Amino acid sequence: MTAPGALVQLTPPRRSVECQIDGETVSAPEGTTILDACRKKGKDLPTLCYLETLHPVNACRVCVVEVENSRVLVPSCSRKVEPGMVVHTDTPRVRHSRKMVLELLASSVDLSTTPHATEWLADYACHPERFGPPAPAAAAGVRDAAQAGHHAAPDPDYAATVHQPTKVDNNLYIRDYGKCILCYKCVEACGTDYQNTFAIAVAGRGFDARISTEFSVPLPGSACVYCGNCIAVCPTGALMFSSEHDLRAAGTWDESRQSVVDTICPYCGVGCTLSLHVQDNAIVKVTSPFDVSITRGNLCIKGRFGWQYVQERPGAGTGRGQMKGAPLAASEAAADGPGGAGRQQQQHGNGRGSVPRDDGAPGTRAPG
Ligand code: SF4
Ligand code: SF4
Ligand code: FES
Repeated sequence: MTAPGALVQLTPPRRSVECQIDGETVSAPEGTTILDACRKKGKDLPTLCYLETLHPVNACRVCVVEVENSRVLVPSCSRKVEPGMVVHTDTPRVRHSRKMVLELLASSVDLSTTPHATEWLADYACHPERFGPPAPAAAAGVRDAAQAGHHAAPDPDYAATVHQPTKVDNNLYIRDYGKCILCYKCVEACGTDYQNTFAIAVAGRGFDARISTEFSVPLPGSACVYCGNCIAVCPTGALMFSSEHDLRAAGTWDESRQSVVDTICPYCGVGCTLSLHVQDNAIVKVTSPFDVSITRGNLCIKGRFGWQYVQERPGAGTGRGQMKGAPLAASEAAADGPGGAGRQQQQHGNGRGSVPRDDGAPGTRAPG
């Protein structure tokens, strides 16, 4: 029953489509993806570049399934169910393809903070080491300087990697592109799907392709407004709160000791939902639920990072969960963020909020 006063979303009725998934007849509303149909039946498939709040880009291909009479394997995260479709999610061909994708990723990228990576590598009997020992990490800036069409010849003694030093150029979040699988999610979140800031894009070609700011400038000199919406969607931990990064470096990051508490952002009238991740009575990061229709997981700098004032109380936040340097007051976080990010927002009117249009479709409107 709908609660009194609750909003009822009116959408045109959708026909039901009947198809077969792994021998089971499944009925799903027209427009449902194969992945959603599978998940509704309790059958999960691996995904990396997919997120329900972003447009599918089909970059990773770990979600592929076999559809009878289809020449190629199809990405389940974007292919819609069709009447009479016969889908197989776990055939030898599907497993072989997923295994190869995972092996190529694991041989070239650090997947140590990618959720489920270890279990998938085991499930698909992956042996990334068969490509050879990982190539040494590139020196800082070398991959950023690679020019399209000017590739160094590969060294046959090593498996090529994207390993490189972590970029730490501001107080709020780090970029560890040695963990980047080029899934495009951060680019979408920063671009037309939500933030429309376009601070990052894919630069370079082939194995040199990487996520970059304009001319590879450090974040404080870029168009970034520190909404952190890229961190929220990154599936590998390549983009990470500095607080989390520091706790991991100290060996004290422990999700089993963390609780998540939802509250409402105190800064402005949009009233975004904040999920406070708390460890040892200190906030260690802030996310926002993807299924809240107002903001779909997106926040602005204030909600995402402006919580240090909460830690400023006797006996709390003893270094944990605080950003590097002196703790910032909320007003400082909002107005004087890293590299003058707060000022940048005030001057250019960008980044106060990144929320979808009222119809729930990706887009941006000024909050409040
Ligand atoms: S930084 Fe993260 S979100 Fe962006 S492309 Fe790399 S893995 Fe994907
Ligand atoms: S738009 Fe920013 S300041 Fe306003 S409620 Fe959302 S996160 Fe908080
Ligand atoms: S999750 Fe479907 S292609 Fe990446």
